Amino acid sequence: MTRQGRLLEIGPTDNTSDQRTPRQLLRLIPEEARASFIPVVPARYASNPHEWDMTRVAPDRPRADGVPIEVTGSVKTQSGAPVRHALLEVWSANHYGRYRHVEDMSGLQLDKNHLGLGRVLTDEDGNYRFLAISPGAYLARPDIGRWRPKHIHISVSGGASRLITQMYFPDEPNNQSDPMAILMGDAFERNIGKPFEPANNDLDEAYRFDIVVGGRNATYFE
Ligand SMILES: [Fe+2]
Repeated sequence: MTRQGRLLEIGPTDNTSDQRTPRQLLRLIPEEARASFIPVVPARYASNPHEWDMTRVAPDRPRADGVPIEVTGSVKTQSGAPVRHALLEVWSANHYGRYRHVEDMSGLQLDKNHLGLGRVLTDEDGNYRFLAISPGAYLARPDIGRWRPKHIHISVSGGASRLITQMYFPDEPNNQSDPMAILMGDAFERNIGKPFEPANNDLDEAYRFDIVVGGRNATYFE
């Protein structure tokens, strides 16, 4: 059986888009193959219970600068089935918009209490929860003055599959001019965390971010 594939457009807003966009026709993965998104992540990946708390580098260490937040949600397939034991790897800039990464040349302030990396498994119902510091926006392209609105990177792994997405925050000034938001169009709404009142007094803000893997209502993945 042959299927006509779809060619992705090269985004008009980003000068690396042409390098990151597949040149060949995209073909729909057959349903039976999509079942390979079955998480077989070993439990050892979540053996450290503190890896879902990104507000400090270790228990009993001071909390990093900025606003502590909770992010919670589910990972589901397009038919609504929970994706159990999927591994979420999370990374973000610190309160000042700086990544603790060798390639972050911004010169912005580092925070010794902020590692900016965490990971968590989804539970039996496909739900996850982690704590983070609300990340700062950063000037991603000083040459053209382009800011990236604050966002949290989330990788979802299950089986042999890995998808990477970003959670945005509502009403951020640079949301609409963000290259990914422009590419997403109306679907951008799905990638914005939905605020709710945190139950824990220790946290200033809480966001719900439900991730859908595949289908018409899929979360936008890079
Ligand atoms: Fe980023």
